[in-house]
Amino acid sequence: MKQTIITILAFLIIVTLVVLFFTLNQSSREEQRLTTDLQYRTTLLADSLKEKINPYVIYNNKEQIQVIIDQFTEDKRVTTVVLYDNKDNIVASSSAVNLDITNIDTIVTNSMDEDKVSADFIKLDGKKSYVFSLPLHKDTNIIGSLTLIQNAGFIDDRLSEVWKNNLIRLGVQATIIFLAILLTVRFIIYLPIKDLVETIRRSRMHEENTPPKKIPENFIFRPLIKEISHFSKNLYEARMSAKEEAKFNIEKIDSPWTEQRLYEYVKKILNNRNVFVISNREPYIHTKKSGKISYFIPASGMVTAIEPMIEACGGTWIATGSGDADRLVVDKNNKIKVPPDDPKYVLKRVWLTKEEEKRYYYGFSNEGLWPLCHMAHTRPIFREEDWEVYKSVNGKFASIVLNEIKNIEKPVIIIQDYHFSLLPRMIKDSRPDAQIGIFWHIPWPNPEAFGICPFRKEILDGMLGADLIGFHTQLHCNNFIETAGRELEALIDLEQFTITKNTHKSYIKPFPISIAFSDNKDKKTNPEEILRKLDIKKTKYMGIGVDRLDYTKGILERLIAIEQLFKNNPTYKNNFTFVQVAPPSRSQITVYSNLESQVEAEVNRINSLYKSNGWKPIIYLNKHHNHEEINELYRVSNVCLVTSLHDGMNLVSKEFVVARTDEKGVLILSKFAGASRELKDAIIINPYDINQLSESIHKALQMSNLEQTKRMKRMRDALKRNDIYHWSASLLKNLINL
Ligand code: F6P
Repeated sequence: MKQTIITILAFLIIVTLVVLFFTLNQSSREEQRLTTDLQYRTTLLADSLKEKINPYVIYNNKEQIQVIIDQFTEDKRVTTVVLYDNKDNIVASSSAVNLDITNIDTIVTNSMDEDKVSADFIKLDGKKSYVFSLPLHKDTNIIGSLTLIQNAGFIDDRLSEVWKNNLIRLGVQATIIFLAILLTVRFIIYLPIKDLVETIRRSRMHEENTPPKKIPENFIFRPLIKEISHFSKNLYEARMSAKEEAKFNIEKIDSPWTEQRLYEYVKKILNNRNVFVISNREPYIHTKKSGKISYFIPASGMVTAIEPMIEACGGTWIATGSGDADRLVVDKNNKIKVPPDDPKYVLKRVWLTKEEEKRYYYGFSNEGLWPLCHMAHTRPIFREEDWEVYKSVNGKFASIVLNEIKNIEKPVIIIQDYHFSLLPRMIKDSRPDAQIGIFWHIPWPNPEAFGICPFRKEILDGMLGADLIGFHTQLHCNNFIETAGRELEALIDLEQFTITKNTHKSYIKPFPISIAFSDNKDKKTNPEEILRKLDIKKTKYMGIGVDRLDYTKGILERLIAIEQLFKNNPTYKNNFTFVQVAPPSRSQITVYSNLESQVEAEVNRINSLYKSNGWKPIIYLNKHHNHEEINELYRVSNVCLVTSLHDGMNLVSKEFVVARTDEKGVLILSKFAGASRELKDAIIINPYDINQLSESIHKALQMSNLEQTKRMKRMRDALKRNDIYHWSASLLKNLINL
């Protein structure tokens, strides 16, 4: 609507300027015409009066002169006639003259001095008048001047009338145009388009289960309406048949998992039970820039993996609000429906104070538990104050969850990650009927490594409040069971993989997380365009790395291996370019900010050693990129490097494989990432072995197309079988069936 009004106003300004131009033109022509008319008529009148009056002036017959002037003034409707002698004295004038004519002297004097007609427009008594003076003669001598004064006010009156008429016309026209455009836009364009958009939106919506409504007729958009009606009808039919097929496939073990199948499956097993997901990181972060609110999806494997599940369940996701515009878009219960463009579930935001963020998130979670669970040789820091705040933030989330589920019977609660190790127990103690799962997205170390944590017993006890504890790999499950066996008094059943503590049994199971699989080959990427975007002039091979800037990702090791590649194989100079996408992460923690500077320094050092002719070996993109931008980079790269020193799963490796619908490209994958258990056709490396890593890059770049396709096909098959819908279904099934 705003745009329509702006368009109409712009149009009206143009119309107004055109009308003003023509009115100006018309009024100047009118003024010209009226002035010429008046001058011509006055000249004729003055000449005829001069002829009559001159003989009497010669003989100074004042009586007769007065008679002629009065009669002339009356007959010819001239305002005033004045006769001067050659000394500028008035000899006679119209009897009815009541004008102050003192300032016409110059014109009169001029006519006699120059012996010719003198005329001008001047103001007399505030009125515009035309004064015309011509000399009178006796033989060759000037004996006086005859002056006619005409009222010229009618010229201004006429011009005002022209302006008034045109402006009234403009006002009427503008109003009519404004209303006409507004009504046309609203009824002929806006409303029908709104109907069409609504039809497309409803067709696109997952939950749209009713046949599409008939779109109202509109003569302008008839062909478009016809097409969209067909399209939404076909989509509806396709969705219905996919639904039927999904229902039919629910129980078939070997049929592929799809979004639709998960939706049907979840509906069936949940049987109207409510699902709650709890995580620290929220799936949508709202920010404000130059007064405009927008949102982005954070770089988080957890978010990528959990969203399809909660979309299928249509439940509530409770997470920390972290965007500077997050509070501006939620309702009074701190809730917002998301995804913002196609709402499917509710996001409830929890607000933390700066102190809570510092001690619970940066402190205990990321300076304590993160390095404790990742064997990347960064020493964990356990501060008593951080632990206290960690406990109180878990308590804060527990009371929010308990409040949300207070009227809900047997809610299903799925807790994410190491930020909430105490939450399962806190909820279970108040609500034993709640079915609680916790999924640990990072590795679980061996008992010796975990044993250094001063709060290990409370953490294990907190987690064992859950009915189901999930890890990415069997090794992490084993480590957890062993740790619990050492640290707690609990009954361990290694046949069923359960731990029973105080009569409550927890199942420990591996669920290798994944992403959505796509076979859609339509997504084409133009390599030249990508190279242009990256400002790469020319390169034969391209490599890609995508990681949060985290010391567990082995980014520095990767850079050194790339340097070695150039050292050992100089032919790659000008021919191999490595693109590293690394959005900053947890920068307030010293090891992370140090890592940022180290990575940047390494990139600059290697670039300055090897760059030449406008080419440089490493393009470093240290900012957030969305999924589509990253997928484009995956599709044009010859090799993807995942060199984690330790990683729960690592979804970048899976994203690269899913993006390669062309079945080309080589994945180099760390043996310390959970994904290496599934993606066995990657080149598996030890990131600490720089020689091996560097040689693997060379091997990948030299791999034949045939070999690439063979490996990529097998990896894609593995992911097709084990995608995120399969993961979600098996996690939910295991939790609900307990
Ligand atoms: O993958 C492990 C994980 O902790 C996720 O749970 C988390 O979303 C991701 O790393 C990113 O970390 P953060 O949420 O601290 O930015």
